[in-house]
Amino acid sequence: MTDEITVIPGDGIGQEVTPAAVDVLESLEIEFAFHEADAGDHVKEETGEALPAETYDLAASTDATLFGAAGETAADVILPLREAVGSFVNVRPAKAYPGVDALRPDTDLVFLRENTEGVYSGHENRLSDDLSTLTRVVTSSASEQLAEFACEFVADGGYDGFHVAHKANVMRETDGRFRDSVLAVAEERGVETEEVLMDAFATHVCLDPTQFDVVVCPNLAGDVLSDLAAGLVGGLGMLPSANIGPERGLFEPVHGSAPDIAGEGIANPAATIISAAMLLEYLGHDDDGQAVRSAVEGVLEDGPRTPDLGGDASTDDVTDAVIDRL
Ligand code: NAI
Ligand code: MG
Repeated sequence: MTDEITVIPGDGIGQEVTPAAVDVLESLEIEFAFHEADAGDHVKEETGEALPAETYDLAASTDATLFGAAGETAADVILPLREAVGSFVNVRPAKAYPGVDALRPDTDLVFLRENTEGVYSGHENRLSDDLSTLTRVVTSSASEQLAEFACEFVADGGYDGFHVAHKANVMRETDGRFRDSVLAVAEERGVETEEVLMDAFATHVCLDPTQFDVVVCPNLAGDVLSDLAAGLVGGLGMLPSANIGPERGLFEPVHGSAPDIAGEGIANPAATIISAAMLLEYLGHDDDGQAVRSAVEGVLEDGPRTPDLGGDASTDDVTDAVIDRL
């Protein structure tokens, strides 16, 4: 069966790293049907809307979507896209690869970030000239669904258990519900857990990232803490992510459109190519996913490398080197 893939390059370096990842996918002996779709700042300028209905519908109907990045319209693009694929968890591995000058070369952990609620559920209000408020949404059902995924993730990956990062000592009701729901599911499934306050986690992960393997987080915490981990492993150009839903997925680098380097052809494609490897694994092409990972790892170790990793290679040089290894 042909895998139907929506490809949304978006803005800035999204236009550079997404085609790079598609080139890698096309070099494999798998039959894909790619559907190119548009979204982002440049679409909003032309049409008034950052995410055209056709793009949303494609993401909501194809097997998987590969997304680059959007600029200022990122929230208007990515939040509906995550909804389009019904994604309830954002998987964000933060791994320091050999050959990459990382602050903490011993970092190798995975964030499982709640992907539908928390403070990103869009319930913001301007109540007066002086006062704005935000309603934070936490449901037991979403927290349990995340925990179910975490238990399976831990079993599949051969991990001992997982950490739950929260701030239930202060946000007793919302993070309390999140924590209690996650811990209850883990206990029922016989999966070991350890709690960690999210602020303390930020310190611990910098001092000794080897304490952590899998970290389950509420939405905002997962966003911030995974960017922090990006700093430990060599920068934002290194972090892939997978938004997993029950029937489809959305795969994207964690980084944005990087306007400071867009158009120069020097963006690091590693995060997007590893996101494509996650897409392959999600679709059941485990061997190909692993082959792509190994090829990227080999290139990171031996070069060529883009300027963010201290090299002087272009996006294309790195992509060609990955394809050569495949
Ligand atoms: P950014 O991730 O675009 O860039 C931060 C820094 O990291 C920049 O110096 C950039 O050059 C560097 N960088 C990021 N990815 C890189 C790569 N692949 N290779 C080499 N260097 C890389 O974040 P920033 O600057 O905060 O935001 C820029 C725009 O991106 C904003 O308009 C923001 O709204 C949007 N954004 C979009 C996201 C998305 O579409 N998922 C996520 C984050 C930001
Ligand atoms: Mg972020």
